[in-house]
Amino acid sequence: MNISADQSVQDIAHSCRENRLLQNGYRVVNVIEIRAMGTKITSMGTQTAAHELRFRFGENWTNFLSVVDERRLAEATASLAAVLGDLKGKSFLDVGCGSGIHSLAAVRLGASRVFSFDFDLQSVECTKQMKQRFAQESNWHIETGSVLDEGYLRQIGSFDVVYSWGVLHHTGNMWKALELVTIPAQDKLFISIYNDQGWKSSFWQWYKRTYNRMTRPIQRLMEASVFFWTWVKPLFFHYRATRKRWKEYVKSRGMSPWYDVVDWAGGYPFEVATPEALESFFQKRGFNLHYSDIRGYGLCNDFVFVRT
Ligand SMILES: C[S@@+](CC[C@H](N)C(=O)[O-])C[C@H]1O[C@@H](n2cnc3c(N)ncnc32)[C@H](O)[C@@H]1O
Repeated sequence: MNISADQSVQDIAHSCRENRLLQNGYRVVNVIEIRAMGTKITSMGTQTAAHELRFRFGENWTNFLSVVDERRLAEATASLAAVLGDLKGKSFLDVGCGSGIHSLAAVRLGASRVFSFDFDLQSVECTKQMKQRFAQESNWHIETGSVLDEGYLRQIGSFDVVYSWGVLHHTGNMWKALELVTIPAQDKLFISIYNDQGWKSSFWQWYKRTYNRMTRPIQRLMEASVFFWTWVKPLFFHYRATRKRWKEYVKSRGMSPWYDVVDWAGGYPFEVATPEALESFFQKRGFNLHYSDIRGYGLCNDFVFVRT
């Protein structure tokens, strides 16, 4: 791959993608190498490169995109509305936008301005496709960025609502991410973080780290194993309830049971926190707890904090 000294980050990112360098650590390593070459990289700081072992979230979101339809969008929109209500006239920042489905939900709920960013270039591409397919005319800006990059967060301005669902525990430095995500939050901060289950969380951290070290066929086996414990085993013991849960899974934020299984198997870096630790962390930083949905077990707990 030839990279000239004055190429922009996006150009380089696209060159990387074209050269199939987007996989796990490869992208990170190559970006570091590009920095070392003295090229003009400004928005993708070294902070984002802390974890070489990294799940390809964007690839999973690309696959998820093929199952996105109006029903899924309606469920995603309803789930966002259920917590945040009307977004008319509000500015909305989606930190770690993934597929972009909830940014689109914010557009549909009337947000006057939506800004989405993600560290993963393929996730950014998915969100752009989401806009292209469903909301071409909207006031919706999408770009690459990292929540661990303080300079970047100070530069994008402030927003009425900052939304970061299932992201900060996947950055490789969760407590720093929790600190920095407050910078653009003018009023509401909606975050979702994996529940701390002690040794069980340690097991999951090991599982996910191992997954990302494995070859593709082994990864498939590890995904199948998570699928077995999450869906097949319960189907034997609680057939009706499990079948209903599968059919109604779309109601959980418009997500898909299969692509969530892939995310559970491989989503690394991975950290967890107790609800108490999060509440006290934000209280010390001038945010009061406004809403929470504590799902417990190995699931994500949702919190909305309001700046006092
Ligand atoms: C489990 S997905 C959640 C996506 C989306 N928020 C949702 O609710 O569907 C986690 C996302 O966080 C992104 N991410 C990980 N580290 C990040 C960072 N440092 N800055 C921004 N996004 C990051 C990943 O690329 C991925 O798209």
